[in-house]
Amino acid sequence: MTLLPVSVAPELVTGEFRKMIYADLREVILIEHRAYEFCWTEGIFRDCLRAGYYCQVLAAPNGGRIQGYGIMSAAVGEAHIFNICVRPELQGRRLARRVLDHLLGIAHTEAVKTVFLEVRESNKPALRLYAGAGFCEIGVRPGYYPAPKGRREDAIIMAREL
Ligand SMILES: CC(C)(COP(=O)(O)OP(=O)(O)OC[C@H]1O[C@@H](n2cnc3c(N)ncnc32)[C@H](O)[C@@H]1OP(=O)(O)O)[C@@H](O)C(=O)NCCC(=O)NCCS
Repeated sequence: MTLLPVSVAPELVTGEFRKMIYADLREVILIEHRAYEFCWTEGIFRDCLRAGYYCQVLAAPNGGRIQGYGIMSAAVGEAHIFNICVRPELQGRRLARRVLDHLLGIAHTEAVKTVFLEVRESNKPALRLYAGAGFCEIGVRPGYYPAPKGRREDAIIMAREL
């Protein structure tokens, strides 16, 4: 099965990884707002950059558009993936898997032993992404996320040994 419709230009999905910089935040926030119902604020991204987290963007070559991004911390043998997001019109083309594999590669070079993340229990695409990359459910945080109509939603905690 081919995942790439002919209507999508190749340069839109053949991106390269680089560090996220403050100047990216305008574009990142536009993607974030379109991709999530409850999204991060610009301040959260700024805090991640300031903290020195691994903030990576996958972008089209030659300064082209950002296709997706991932945020991860890594220290003392543990990594935490905080965010992986793909531009909505480019979803379903294995870009998230590329972002995830890239972050896992960084974790490996940082001698990380265990990678953790949290995901909404209703987020089937993300659950499938992480399960397909070898992450297993290790716990639940009840009511961790805000949900529509003032409700709350559980977070599934997942982990993978490297
Ligand atoms: C979750 C998300 C990152 C997936 O991005 P993507 O580029 O579409 O994912 P990929 O094409 O790399 O596919 C990865 C896996 O997810 C599955 N998947 C992708 N979209 C799916 C969907 N709508 N429904 C079910 N599974 C889906 C793919 O089939 C693939 O699984 P497989 O390897 O078993 O075939 C994307 O939907 C997104 O950005 N969502 C908003 C942000 C978000 O929820 N991030 C995760 C929380 S941290």
